[in-house]
Amino acid sequence: MIKYGEYITPEEYMGLRKMVGWVEFPLEQAEACIEKAYMILCVRDDEKAIGVVRLLWDGGYIAFLSDVIVDPEYQGQGIGRKLVEASIQKLRDGMKPGYKVKLTLNSAKGKEPFYEKFGFKVRPNDDAGPGMDQWLIMNEEGLSDESAGMLC
Ligand SMILES: CC(C)(COP(=O)(O)OP(=O)(O)OC[C@H]1O[C@@H](n2cnc3c(N)ncnc32)[C@H](O)[C@@H]1OP(=O)(O)O)[C@@H](O)C(=O)NCCC(=O)NCCS
Repeated sequence: MIKYGEYITPEEYMGLRKMVGWVEFPLEQAEACIEKAYMILCVRDDEKAIGVVRLLWDGGYIAFLSDVIVDPEYQGQGIGRKLVEASIQKLRDGMKPGYKVKLTLNSAKGKEPFYEKFGFKVRPNDDAGPGMDQWLIMNEEGLSDESAGMLC
């Protein structure tokens, strides 16, 4: 039975990331990703974690949607839609009259049409540049800028 709940273990979270080929990092960081999120929603089929989403928001005007993942075996069944819609609803629930919040995300390549269904606009557009990011990678030797091929 498919259930949605606001709980996930660091191991389950990293397992889902690994499943879709995303960058791995220490469990200590995974714990912070979970604890510091405004909302984390995990989808389970019985006990097995098969999807996740993280919503980051500090109560100010920028919120970030992260880690939208559905196990490939369960894709195409409306689970991704529920995860994104629940995140937007959670943000709306936290907003007071007069609030303005920009909900942003980094789309994986080719997933833009999925996010457009929920009102996200592809950048660049008339109002915004393309969006930019960088990876900071700390090795034993110090910072490295070797980030080619690192996904989400
Ligand atoms: C992207 C992802 C989360 C979609 O999850 P999903 O459960 O398969 O999506 P849903 O079944 O809820 O689909 C919702 C809608 O989006 C559409 N959709 C799903 N994936 C799409 C894609 N890649 N391109 C265009 N439309 C897509 C569906 O057709 C559906 O449309 P409808 O509701 O109008 O009929 C899933 O493919 C995934 O986890 N991919 C790997 C990780 C990833 O790339 N995540 C995005 C990171 S930015």
